[in-house]
Amino acid sequence: MRSQFSYLLLAVLGLKSTIATYIDPAPLKNEHPGQIFSSSSGSTCCVDGVINTGNSTGRFADINGTSTYLAYPPGRNPKTNIAILYLTDIFGVQLVNNRVLADSLARAGYFVLMPDLFEGDPVPSSAMGGIPSTFNITQWRAVHTQEKVEAIIASSISSLRKQFGAKKIGAVGYCFGGKYVARFLAPGGGLDAGFTAHPSGVTTDEWAAVGGPLSIAFGTLDGSNTPAQRAAAEAIFTTKNLTFQTTLYSNAEHGFAVRTDLSIPQKKFAQESAYFQAVRWFDAWIK
Ligand SMILES: *[C@@H]1O[C@H](CO)[C@@H](O)[C@H](O)[C@H]1NC(C)=O
Ligand SMILES: *[C@@H]1O[C@H](CO)[C@@H](O)[C@H](O)[C@H]1NC(C)=O
Ligand SMILES: *[C@@H]1O[C@H](CO)[C@@H](O)[C@H](O)[C@H]1NC(C)=O
Ligand SMILES: *[C@@H]1O[C@H](CO)[C@@H](O)[C@H](O)[C@H]1NC(C)=O
Repeated sequence: MRSQFSYLLLAVLGLKSTIATYIDPAPLKNEHPGQIFSSSSGSTCCVDGVINTGNSTGRFADINGTSTYLAYPPGRNPKTNIAILYLTDIFGVQLVNNRVLADSLARAGYFVLMPDLFEGDPVPSSAMGGIPSTFNITQWRAVHTQEKVEAIIASSISSLRKQFGAKKIGAVGYCFGGKYVARFLAPGGGLDAGFTAHPSGVTTDEWAAVGGPLSIAFGTLDGSNTPAQRAAAEAIFTTKNLTFQTTLYSNAEHGFAVRTDLSIPQKKFAQESAYFQAVRWFDAWIK
């Protein structure tokens, strides 16, 4: 009992000392511009794996004023009543990896809706591996405020319910998008379950407000989720008796679930596993 308590205290204290180092978006210097896996070595029951020809197969539509990428589950009358809202990293719907990953989630039986959170103005993919000096990220952040991003997400959730008849909505969020999975998984946010990989800039208050089932994939090389921050989040979820799952992948950097160096076995394993982690989470809690 006592040791559990000191662990919790340590985690919280550890967090306090590192809280000033939260960076959103996370630094990109350890990121690999990288690929997304095209087949799975895993054999999870009933998940069809991923087809990656390098091109996405969904389509863009204007959904209540926002350019939105839609990926439908296979079948002649694809169901839209069980949906995944895909909240991207700073590279947005324009990054093919995000679209291919959305297609992959659709292949697992979900209708996937991925709004353009940045209104045609994502961070350019040339910034992977390090923001170039020619790109002013401070200015970019000032344009794409939390309020604007949240208005787009709220509109997407509303459209999913009203226009597409979604009865259950899960959300995935990678990097930047992870913060918003946490925020909209608070009671009244409109989500039924959430998954995030290497979320950036999530505060302890935001973790504490989460009410729905939440799964998180962390990587050991991700500076935006330090050991103390991960432990603090887990302590909060445990204290709340939240339905949650966290995994930690070795040799996995910020961004690994969306783009990584697939020639390195641990990174390839981490990316594939994060995909299956998300699918199994939604199979359990919203299907
Ligand atoms: C992918 O799209 C490009 C054009 O955008 C096309 O040249 C290429 O053939 C496509 N590849 C596949 C496998 O469909
Ligand atoms: C980046 O943008 C911010 C806010 O607009 C501005 O204050 C700053 O001077 C800019 N930095 C550079 C290097 O242009
Ligand atoms: C469309 O967006 C507006 C806000 O921009 C919102 O008030 C409205 O509920 C949305 N409509 C639908 C059908 O989602
Ligand atoms: C935790 O939640 C589960 C259901 O989700 C419940 O069965 C269990 O009693 C709860 N434990 C505590 C200590 O409240």
